[in-house]
Amino acid sequence: MVTKQVPSTGLLTEEHEMLRQAAREFAQNEVLPIAAEHDESGEFPLETIRKMGKMGFMGIEVPEEYGGAGMDTLAYVLALEEICKADAAHGTVMSVNNSLFCYGILKFGTEEQKQKYVRGVASGAKIGAYSLTEPMSGSDAGTMRSRAVKQGEHYLINGRKSWVTSAPVADYVLLFTMTDADKGHLGITAFLIDTTQPGFSRGKKEPKLGIRASATSEIVFEDYKAPMASRLGEEGEGFKIAMTVLDAGRIGIAAQALGIAEAAYEASLSYVREREAFGQKIGEFQGTGFKIADMKTRIEASRGLIYNAAQAKQRSKTSGERYTLEASMANLYASETAMFCAHHAVQIHGGMGYSKELPVERYFRDAKITEIYEGTSEIQRLVISRMETGLR
Ligand code: CAA
Repeated sequence: MVTKQVPSTGLLTEEHEMLRQAAREFAQNEVLPIAAEHDESGEFPLETIRKMGKMGFMGIEVPEEYGGAGMDTLAYVLALEEICKADAAHGTVMSVNNSLFCYGILKFGTEEQKQKYVRGVASGAKIGAYSLTEPMSGSDAGTMRSRAVKQGEHYLINGRKSWVTSAPVADYVLLFTMTDADKGHLGITAFLIDTTQPGFSRGKKEPKLGIRASATSEIVFEDYKAPMASRLGEEGEGFKIAMTVLDAGRIGIAAQALGIAEAAYEASLSYVREREAFGQKIGEFQGTGFKIADMKTRIEASRGLIYNAAQAKQRSKTSGERYTLEASMANLYASETAMFCAHHAVQIHGGMGYSKELPVERYFRDAKITEIYEGTSEIQRLVISRMETGLR
């Protein structure tokens, strides 16, 4: 079911509509039918991910010369929303390849790095990952313990990173590690890691509540030799690169949350129109109707914030201006809306909402991570309030 969306007058071009339609058809025909099975088994859906790459979904904003679809940020969020409406786990892989990996290299990489790393990931032939978090540093990203030490023509990397989306299958990792611990966040440097090289290994796989088909694990570095040419940006520029890339990533997570919220909403809408109790459709009870009203309103408000953030990111490509505020607001509101809608959807469905026979319980489990990864709701509030007050 596709419900009426609040029109965004003049915002979407014919090209956007065509892409959205293509993404919707692909999601409903190829992703939705396998979503429950992969959620249950936790198996990474490599075949579908490769197909999504061929459709251009893995590098929507990547210029065609680097193997991407050459479209804009709005196109990216439209397609991601459709994929996530069918399955958020597929959407997680899509979002990391697009925003956390390709975007960072396009923005900060050399021509050689763009050719070497972006082409494969944007076409879906390769899988990219982004690694900032460590077992002892999550939200406080500047306090990492992993180290890269310059030795002649390379850096020697040692340490353990955690919660790395796509790590169990990744070909390349955009890694943030400390080259000068005395300088705090100004001592962090970014590297492009080739996972086939000695010194790299994949650690403990995370047993997750939701988005179970998107593989997540620790990664371990033991005397990994990173050549000079694999350093992204300058020494000490890593924290700024990590934050800049997260701004882009947070718009993707917002679009993912919107997709989950819509799926939960549409399931609820169908159910309240059909299900009867006490001699009437349950949608006729005011308590249920008001839930529907709140879900719909929050979904459309999220859409507005996300499209606004997407436009701000698009403008930044020429102006260079940051869109941190827009990205965090979209992420905060959409992720809490996903949880709100999934929570209501389970309640509206009663026992069936709690059963694995329907996808509603999966929406509930998948929604939660959008309030956590790429910055918790608390971090988004911190970013927004700091930007607004100018205080720290
Ligand atoms: N863009 C560019 N620069 C930025 C920036 C941004 N969005 N945010 C901060 N900076 C710059 C600041 O201007 C400052 O620069 P100077 O050194 O020149 O002054 C520098 O970075 C340090 O900024 P802060 O003092 O604000 O840094 P902080 O230590 O207080 O941290 C924070 C700020 C917002 C809390 C940040 O640490 C943060 O976002 N934390 C959350 C991390 C996160 O989202 N982790 C999830 C990782 S990804 C994941 O979930 C796994 C996955 O695989 C998907």
